[in-house]
Amino acid sequence: MTGIMLGSKITGWGAALPGTVITNEDFEKRLDTSDAWITERTGIKERRVGGTTASLSIEAAQKAIAAAGLTPADIGMLVLSTTTPDQTVPATSATVQAELGLTCGAFDVNAACAGFVYALVVGHSMILSGVEHVLVIGADTLSRITDMEDRSTAVLFADGAGAVVLSRTEENNFLSWDLGVDGTLVPILYCDHGGYLRMEGREVFKRAVLAMVSSAQAALERAGITTDDVALVVPHQANIRIIEAANNRLGIPMERTAIVLDKTGNTSSGSIPLALAAAADMGRIHPGDYVLFCGFGAGMTWASAVVRWGA
Ligand code: ACO
Repeated sequence: MTGIMLGSKITGWGAALPGTVITNEDFEKRLDTSDAWITERTGIKERRVGGTTASLSIEAAQKAIAAAGLTPADIGMLVLSTTTPDQTVPATSATVQAELGLTCGAFDVNAACAGFVYALVVGHSMILSGVEHVLVIGADTLSRITDMEDRSTAVLFADGAGAVVLSRTEENNFLSWDLGVDGTLVPILYCDHGGYLRMEGREVFKRAVLAMVSSAQAALERAGITTDDVALVVPHQANIRIIEAANNRLGIPMERTAIVLDKTGNTSSGSIPLALAAAADMGRIHPGDYVLFCGFGAGMTWASAVVRWGA
């Protein structure tokens, strides 16, 4: 805990998806739905299911730690965002901490699909508190709380995880954040213990667009930049139409947007780090680029952050 503590940057990333693919055609065979309906209304073509929140977390985290050029001993804190912990007690981060061979503290964060950005902001705060490297994971296994006989939710939700390592730097690359929740909207999207996800789709859609736009604008303003400066938006991967509507209002073209939902469906906490990892692996982000993260989810929560991509 020495040295100048000015800020943090993302130094490694990794992704994990389970092996079982469910295509829209698979749903066509057993539900009253069609590939055309799902594609047109959501943009989703296929999704992955299987594994546990811990197993997916571990795989994504191992890749992120290796990509950062670190070992588990270097990690000073683990923040795991999930809305589908493997057990009620303990936190899934405890299992992940042990399996990864970490020796640091670990805890879960639950802010539904905005959770990864919440966890990222918490991770950045830990760096400002003196931790050198924080492992931030977003992981969910929504298939376990989705009624696979209900066409209105079965086609949307799936499983996946992504992870990043945040490291202390002398130049701050974590420029701004905006976190919020409107708890009066709990009834439009929830899952009771032992139950399935229940959702008022149209209401969630409408609120999601409003939340994404106002939260992104707040984060951009605090960072002192405009949408023209943003090289890449990494939005929550729920529905391509939500992303298009928010982008339209923000004035951000889809070419500057990370999309994986056609292949992953909505993986909640996994969605933003999965999209980030895919974009970074494809070389779509360059040193100095401004990246805008923007999530929303049950609660309703919202979360945005602006980072400058490090060298
Ligand atoms: N196949 C065919 N028809 C369907 C399907 C399906 N898979 N699902 C619903 N329908 C039907 C409905 O029953 C309805 O039929 P009706 O008119 O006879 O009643 C019709 O399609 C239209 O339904 P809407 O709900 O109005 O359709 P909409 O265009 O709004 O699309 C959708 C539905 C895709 C769910 C959309 O509202 C949406 O994406 N909402 C946001 C969902 C979301 O982002 N949730 C995650 C939030 S993040 C988190 O925290 C988990």
